[in-house]
Amino acid sequence: MIDLSGRVALVTGSSRGIGKASAIRLAQAGADVVVNYVTAQAAATEVAEQITAIGRRAIVVKADVSEEDDVRSMVDHIGETLGQLDIVVSSAATGGFRPLLGATTRNFEAAMRTNVLALIYLVQAALPLLERGPHRGKVVAISSHGSHMALPMYGLIGGSKAALESIVRHMTLEIGDRGVNINTVKAGLVDTDSTRRIPYADKLFEAQVDHTMVGARKLTAEDVADAVVFLSSPLADMIQGETLTVDGGAAVHP
Ligand SMILES: NC(=O)c1ccc[n+]([C@@H]2O[C@H](COP(=O)([O-])OP(=O)(O)OC[C@H]3O[C@@H](n4cnc5c(N)ncnc54)[C@H](OP(=O)(O)O)[C@@H]3O)[C@@H](O)[C@H]2O)c1
Repeated sequence: MIDLSGRVALVTGSSRGIGKASAIRLAQAGADVVVNYVTAQAAATEVAEQITAIGRRAIVVKADVSEEDDVRSMVDHIGETLGQLDIVVSSAATGGFRPLLGATTRNFEAAMRTNVLALIYLVQAALPLLERGPHRGKVVAISSHGSHMALPMYGLIGGSKAALESIVRHMTLEIGDRGVNINTVKAGLVDTDSTRRIPYADKLFEAQVDHTMVGARKLTAEDVADAVVFLSSPLADMIQGETLTVDGGAAVHP
């Protein structure tokens, strides 16, 4: 039912994890995909190869999304090589797992720049392409439970995700009437390179499985990617500035 053929999607941070799963799911739905990375060129190239094997076009672009010039150059390059940009998925994130009591200005700025400011840079750069296409443009940001729950060592990322969700709602006011939808997918805990580094990861994974209401299974990057594809599709044309939680019900479990 979801057919994204004829669209070009940019997925930031798609060399790994949820970004990678989103890139592949979008390609399976018919979109050509721009795979973005900042350090892992080989991994990003592999993702692009998987996309071309599906029969879609893929290009790989190195860009640090916390840097305005990088974001502008990436979007210019997409316009020049693919001629359009219809979907932007902002998945790249950073921040480290550390107590707030030990956080430095540099730590704070890194989390805010990559996890929040990048979305603003992306929309500013991509809007002329997003609003120009024959379909409504789509922007999807990836948030986490830390935006509303307090989790150990997660203060900087959690704070940035709360800001991100608010920025998405406020951005809706500015671009909603310009042919673009912007929404957030708020994911529960997914086993990825970053979450494997959390010192108490096993406990968190167990707790989430205990609290989901979909049987004893872990949330996967593909579960999150499916919501990304939905919000990138015409089925979501009437959804604006919303946060869609994907966690098997863990957040509402008492
Ligand atoms: N995993 C979870 O449990 C979970 C839960 C809820 C929400 N989320 C959110 O989902 C998103 C993806 O998380 P993940 O766990 O899948 O991440 P991950 O596996 O750690 O991958 C991070 C990705 O972001 C890229 N990246 C980091 N900094 C970047 C920068 N400055 N510019 C461009 N790319 C950058 C990395 O590129 P390189 O490979 O090139 O370094 C990589 O592709 C994040 O927004 C995260 O907060 C994750």
